[in-house]
Amino acid sequence: MARSDWGIGIVGLGNIANVHLEAYRKAGLNIVGGAEVDARKRKLAQERWKLPTVTEDFRELVSMPDVKVVDVAVPQNIEIRRPIIEFAAEQGRALFVQKPMVPYLSQAKELVRIAEQHSVPFMVNQNSLFVPGFMAMEPYLRDPRYIGRPYYFQIENRSWAYPRHKWAATQDRFITSAMGIHHCALVVHWFGEWESVYALQGRDASQSELKGENLSVISVKFESGVQGVIINNWCYRGSRPRPHPREEIVIQGDAGAITGDSEDICVTTCDPPSEIRPKFQGKWFPDAFGNSMCHFLDALDKEKPFLSSGRENLKAVALAEAAYLSAAERREVRREEL
Ligand SMILES: NC(=O)c1ccc[n+]([C@@H]2O[C@H](COP(=O)([O-])OP(=O)(O)OC[C@H]3O[C@@H](n4cnc5c(N)ncnc54)[C@H](O)[C@@H]3O)[C@@H](O)[C@H]2O)c1
Repeated sequence: MARSDWGIGIVGLGNIANVHLEAYRKAGLNIVGGAEVDARKRKLAQERWKLPTVTEDFRELVSMPDVKVVDVAVPQNIEIRRPIIEFAAEQGRALFVQKPMVPYLSQAKELVRIAEQHSVPFMVNQNSLFVPGFMAMEPYLRDPRYIGRPYYFQIENRSWAYPRHKWAATQDRFITSAMGIHHCALVVHWFGEWESVYALQGRDASQSELKGENLSVISVKFESGVQGVIINNWCYRGSRPRPHPREEIVIQGDAGAITGDSEDICVTTCDPPSEIRPKFQGKWFPDAFGNSMCHFLDALDKEKPFLSSGRENLKAVALAEAAYLSAAERREVRREEL
C-alpha cells in the first residue's frame, strides 16, 4: 500500500491539530476527516483545511471504513482519551496518540493494555524523536569515532512561557509531564534504560492560574553510566532565553561534544580536532509531526516494529513519574520502585 492508502482521522481539532494537518498535507498523506466537540473549532478547521469530513462525534469518524489510523489530538486527561482509545481499538484502528500519552504512569499502562488487548498498533506521537535536527545528532552520538563514549548530557529549555491552554490550567502536573516528557523520551531513546532520578520542581509565584509546576530539574542516571540533567524552566524572565523548540542540548563524550538545538548543531571532535556542522532539512514544527506519522505508516505497511510504541513510551512516562515522586519526597527514586 502507498502511504496515501492509510486514511487518517484526527480526533480533536484544536491548537496542535493544525500542525498535524500542515505536516500531513506537506507529506501528501490522506486525511479522511476530523472530529471536534467545539462547534467554533469545527468551523475554523473546515474553513482552513477543507477537510472531507468534520463531525462532532468521534465515533462517527472512527467508524468510517476509510479511517485506518486514528490520530488522538485531544487533551491528555484520561477521562477524555480513554473512551476514544477504547472505541478505536474495538474498531481495530491503529492508534497514533499525541504526547504526553497521559500524565500518570498507572493511566498510561491502562491505555497500553487496551491497545494490546485488541492487538492494535499503538504509537505515541512523541515527536521529539523525529525532529530533523535531533535525528541528525544521532549518528554522531552512536559512532564512537566522533565524540568517543558519551558520559554526560544536559538539555535546557528556558523561557517565560506561561501556557494559556484550558487544559493546562486544570492539570495537577504540567511542565514535566507535558514538556519534559519530550526530553525524557529523547534521552531514553539515546541512552537506554534509566536507573535513578533526583528532581526539583516549582513555579513562579506569579503564575497563579497554573495548577501544576512550571519549573522542573531532573537529574537522571542510566544503566550505561551516562548521566545528565533535563531542565524545563518556563518561569525565566531574563535576557538569555533558550525557548522551545530551540532548547539547548549538550552531549559530552570522552573525545568530543555535541552542542546545539533543533535547528543548529555542532559536533566537536578532539582527534583530529574538528568542528562538524551536520546538514539537515526541516524544523520541529511541523516536520517532526510529518516524520513521526510517516514512520508509523511505513511500519504498518511493512508490518515492522516502530519507534515510540505505547509500551516503549512507558519508559519515558515512568521517568517523568519518578521525577514527580522524587520532587515530592525529596529523594532519589530508582526505576524498580515503579
Ligand atoms: N510538540 C507537541 O507534540 C505538542 C505541542 C502542543 C500540544 N501537544 C499536545 O497535544 C494535545 C492537545 O493540545 P492542544 O494544545 O491542541 O489542545 P487544544 O485544547 O487546543 O485542542 C484539543 C481539542 O480537543 C477537543 N476535544 C476534547 N475532547 C474531545 C472529544 N471527545 N472529541 C473530539 N474533540 C475533543 C477540544 O475541544 C479541543 O479543541 C495535548 O495533549 C498537548 O500536550 C503536543
